[in-house]
Amino acid sequence: MAEKQITCVGIIMDGNRRWAKKRDLHTLEGHKAGYEKLKESVSWAKEAGIKNLIFYAFSTENWNRTGEEVGYLMELLKTALRQEFDSLKKENVRILFAGTRDRFAPDIRALMEKMEAETKENQEGTIVFALSYGGRAEIVDAVNEIIASGVSAVDETTFSEHLWTRAVPDPEAIIRTGGEKRLSNFLPWQSVYSELIFTDTLWPDLSKEEFLALLEEFSSRSRRRGV
Ligand code: FPP
Repeated sequence: MAEKQITCVGIIMDGNRRWAKKRDLHTLEGHKAGYEKLKESVSWAKEAGIKNLIFYAFSTENWNRTGEEVGYLMELLKTALRQEFDSLKKENVRILFAGTRDRFAPDIRALMEKMEAETKENQEGTIVFALSYGGRAEIVDAVNEIIASGVSAVDETTFSEHLWTRAVPDPEAIIRTGGEKRLSNFLPWQSVYSELIFTDTLWPDLSKEEFLALLEEFSSRSRRRGV
């Protein structure tokens, strides 16, 4: 395993619809498969000793997809919040949501708040779901919060404390599946020192072996930089 311990990994789960198209399935089936993969990847990360994960699950831009697709993702999200995350609660994992919350329906917002409240004291690890997330919006939100607090100047540490992801460290590595080599408004502030790891594999096709190999790539890059 990795020589250098990774404390936080960001994951851009891309390629769900292409995965479905390749199999002649409805594109929404791709999101269902993506959700199953998300759950699997949480257990892989746990095995690898990674305490903090940030998943890019729904970007600000994703609201512009068809009503059918957005509606399906919202239903999937509700299912996840109601059922699956129960097991994370039991595993002593803290759950947080980063993003513009007021765009979600009141029942989803209430579920998010409940989840955050009920896992607040959990210490085994933290999972941040970036939902309706945009990195620039996060920075602007932090600036507005700082202005409202009345202080006249902040340093980098204080600024970070106003970000939606403040509960977790900056990710040492960001993995993006699906072949695109960009961050797409994911963690612009937090990623300045992150190793960026790209794979052509579509998110639902990612295997545990490849996931661990990608982390190993991070650790070998760190070793090269070492001395
Ligand atoms: C990117 O693939 C993925 C998304 C926009 C959504 C990711 C959603 C999940 C993994 C399911 C769990 C999350 C929620 C919100 C319930 P894409 O659709 O852009 O695929 P493409 O690049 O092949 O078009």
